[in-house]
Amino acid sequence: MPCASSLPRNPGVLYGVRQFSPLILGIGDGEYFLASDVPAFLEYTRKAVFLEDGEIVRVSRDGWEVFHRTGEKCSKTVFAVPWDPVSAERGGFKHFMLKEIHEQPRVFEDTIAGRVNLARGEVEFEELEDFPLDFSRVVAVACGTACHAGMLGKLYLEDFVRLPVDVEYASEFRYRDPLLDEKTLVLAISQSGETADTLRAVELAKQKGARVLAVCNVLGSSLTRLADWTVYTRAGIEIGVASTKAFLAQMTVLLLFGLFWGRKKKTLSSRMMESLLEEIPTIPRKMRTLLSREEDIHALAREFYLFKDFLYLGRGLYYPLALEGALKLKEISYIHAEGLAAGEMKHGPIALIEPDVASFVLVGQGERRLKVLGNIEEIKARRGKVIALCNEGDGEVWEKADYVVEIPKTLEVFSPLLAIVPLQLFAYYVALEKGCDVDQPRNLAKSVTVE
Ligand code: M6R
Repeated sequence: MPCASSLPRNPGVLYGVRQFSPLILGIGDGEYFLASDVPAFLEYTRKAVFLEDGEIVRVSRDGWEVFHRTGEKCSKTVFAVPWDPVSAERGGFKHFMLKEIHEQPRVFEDTIAGRVNLARGEVEFEELEDFPLDFSRVVAVACGTACHAGMLGKLYLEDFVRLPVDVEYASEFRYRDPLLDEKTLVLAISQSGETADTLRAVELAKQKGARVLAVCNVLGSSLTRLADWTVYTRAGIEIGVASTKAFLAQMTVLLLFGLFWGRKKKTLSSRMMESLLEEIPTIPRKMRTLLSREEDIHALAREFYLFKDFLYLGRGLYYPLALEGALKLKEISYIHAEGLAAGEMKHGPIALIEPDVASFVLVGQGERRLKVLGNIEEIKARRGKVIALCNEGDGEVWEKADYVVEIPKTLEVFSPLLAIVPLQLFAYYVALEKGCDVDQPRNLAKSVTVE
């Protein structure tokens, strides 16, 4: 292999070196691309080679080669990226984020395709044929939105599989000395599969003997190469920095994974499974209904875009959604927003309530519903403004809240898949009214490949 000093004597030769951050070679027709992410060259080619740390790629008119830093040649696989270049266009929408929010019914259908077998009353994952049943606990690691999906996944897995699940920000986990062993399943969730903290957390987990299942959206990404198993989320290419459809797909995969594992372990009855599976085909239609009410959410955003502070409150399955709703709003509209477990209000945050603080309260179903209605009363008593999200026809919510957003009725476990749609639309329209750059919010990158 040529040494660095000989490079000037090699015109027409380009080298790329990967160390920690991703590097991908795109192989076009008589041309090559070096990029950190597939979308950068998707318009020109769908053939990609993913480099590992310490690998060096050399491209010239004669072709391409990959070497290890020792000079030894590496044999690499050329992946066929399944994304269509048209999907990297806005397709008539003003922003990618809006397009991606609207794609969610189809993303849900794609993500369950071939996995939900209604005739047999089963959930199947061909990628998990050799998935063992001997785990004693699960630790989910992820960052940002993916971590919120992990928090929801914890509730699904604890319910259906009856195993303890911890959820950790990968950036915290990687700098600790976590207690892990071969009976621990580490669930690593990432849209890009290139998030530095998540990758380092997975490397640490593997060193400690844990086995790793990745929930990931990008075929062949670094995370999928580290993991023992990968379940792909099939959200398609996500371009908006604010993750929307990838979150929906992560929630969907985690729900299905809980059902799959719960039936394998027999911790979930076949009758329960049947009633849950029956509801699944109705979800895309209900999502489309929500999307058709987009203008109502836009009108709501016009009422609120000048507020400086938002609280998002939820309990149970709606607590991770409260965190996600707040993250969406803050990252694209730059409005201060905090997601909170509604039961924590009285332990401090209630002190913030005053007429110019808005609260987005996620009401939900079951016994928690009454508790959340109590939260609305507490906020109203302090003259705070309340937007409440609830199930269709919940008259009490209409009596108590200033503004109401309804979602179609569904079984409780599926309600986050619907409730997320108005939360995303609200964040989008608030940012639009404020004139923010929705797809490229300040200070943020789509993939956080460095610390
Ligand atoms: O690619 P990843 O899912 O690993 O990314 C994790 C976070 O960086 C990401 O979810 C981030 O929080 C988004 N900007 C949220 O919209």
